[in-house]
Amino acid sequence: MEYILEMKNISKTFPGVKALNGVELKVKPGEVHALMGENGAGKSTLMKILMGIYTMDDGGEILFNGQPYHVHNPKEAMDTGVAMIHQELNPILDMTVYENIFVGREIRKNGIVDKRAEIEEAKKLIADSGLHVSPTETLRHLTVAQCQLIEIIKAISVNAKVIVMDEPTAAITDREVELLFGHIRKLKAQGVAIIYISHRMDEIFAICDSVTVYRDGTYIGCGTTKELDEAALIKMMVGREITDVFPKLDAQIGEVMFEAKHITRADGKVKDVSISVRKGEILGIGGLVGAGRSELVEGIFGMHRLSGGEVYVKGRKVRTRTPSDMIKEGVALVTEDRKVTGLNLRGTVNDNISMVAIRKALVNGLYSQGKARKLSQEYIEKLKIKTPSGDQIVNNLSGGNQQKIVIAKWLLNDPDVIIMDEPTRGIDVGAKRDIYLLIGSLVQQGKAVILISSEIPELMGVCDRIAVMAEGHLSGEITRENFSQETIMTLASDIAV
Ligand SMILES: Nc1ncnc2c1ncn2[C@@H]1O[C@H](COP(=O)(O)OP(=O)(O)OP(=O)(O)O)[C@@H](O)[C@H]1O
Ligand SMILES: [Mg+2]
Repeated sequence: MEYILEMKNISKTFPGVKALNGVELKVKPGEVHALMGENGAGKSTLMKILMGIYTMDDGGEILFNGQPYHVHNPKEAMDTGVAMIHQELNPILDMTVYENIFVGREIRKNGIVDKRAEIEEAKKLIADSGLHVSPTETLRHLTVAQCQLIEIIKAISVNAKVIVMDEPTAAITDREVELLFGHIRKLKAQGVAIIYISHRMDEIFAICDSVTVYRDGTYIGCGTTKELDEAALIKMMVGREITDVFPKLDAQIGEVMFEAKHITRADGKVKDVSISVRKGEILGIGGLVGAGRSELVEGIFGMHRLSGGEVYVKGRKVRTRTPSDMIKEGVALVTEDRKVTGLNLRGTVNDNISMVAIRKALVNGLYSQGKARKLSQEYIEKLKIKTPSGDQIVNNLSGGNQQKIVIAKWLLNDPDVIIMDEPTRGIDVGAKRDIYLLIGSLVQQGKAVILISSEIPELMGVCDRIAVMAEGHLSGEITRENFSQETIMTLASDIAV
């Protein structure tokens, strides 16, 4: 048998959306198979069908190990040998590590859950994985990377033959990515197949053997990473060639628009950092995940207590600094974690987009749904947000499209200074390019942009200047003519040059 998993002619229709249209996916044992496509292409939907979370439309066929495969929920999928590490990790935070590993398949003795046996078994599994956590720790106290590893441990312990990883690196540090890749290689060697979903090209070529590409719910093609290169893959995904992945528009750089001086956080996560950005300028903030970049901008934005520091907008000192004060001063913060600070997932696209700009949706002092609808329609088009209408519930949109809504929401408020924290995370190549062009047009209009990113090519592509942070302080600043990958990396790891 050549394939461990064969999905053939799979379709899925949601009200108003044909998410998948007769696609296929064929995975061999022991390979890492990338599933690629633009935001909303249908990748997560296919994987949810595989896990029994969604039922497919009639006419599709799934074979596992050569046998017909029918599952109705993730537990049945797990029992059969298919496990998934989700795009949005949603662990029950009050659960302990061992409870999570054995949920739904508790070890019992005389009908009663044998906690001690579960803890012992969990301890062994954790030790084998090289993770350093106690089995009785609650998930709340673990990092995203640790939660992910627990999920992987769980998959290994049920003897999964196929493990789905949907954007597993979206929220973990570079060092943790290396650790994850180590685990993937080990699983591969044991003959486990991995279905790997990611928008990061470097990862695809680093860890994957083959790639299947979808576009708009249809199957485009499949090939090996040896025979494909980045340009070919992009063309399959977006349907045209993109030569200029990081477009930079010319803008007139003017006077200083925004300054933060000697920012020091009460919790010690940011130490004496000063940055400034001019009208028409894009300032990048580089550094490793955990260097204090989000902590800096959240401190500036009034989300955390500072023990020192001052903020100036257009030369005027901001006296009281709360998020709503900052918004009034014309500063916007597009946050990194869309689930926590960015979006109301149960609200509609329209509700979310108009949330920050309520004042704009007022007609004679009253909130007008019609006005909100029109405003939001404008941004759905501008950012090419893929949704059947503005009335769609945000939770039903694909991950990347949710991210675009966070951006739209803030732009509607027409800020002068826009701080963006990893705005392109989870966003496909074509849409990333749209966002760079959007940032470019913002600075052309005389706004100032601060862009936090972990992707060095992105920073070097679109910024005028890059400030680099390491361990809570500023380790250096580079202007465009001196940009180099090496300098940025050196500053990020804060080794004296
Ligand atoms: N529960 C749902 N109800 C309605 N529409 C849905 C639902 N789930 C997904 N969709 C729609 O199906 C399409 C495919 O979404 P899916 O999440 O599979 O995309 P994706 O390829 O995983 O994208 P991303 O890269 O952004 O994660 C999108 O248009 C999405 O809005
Ligand atoms: Mg997805």
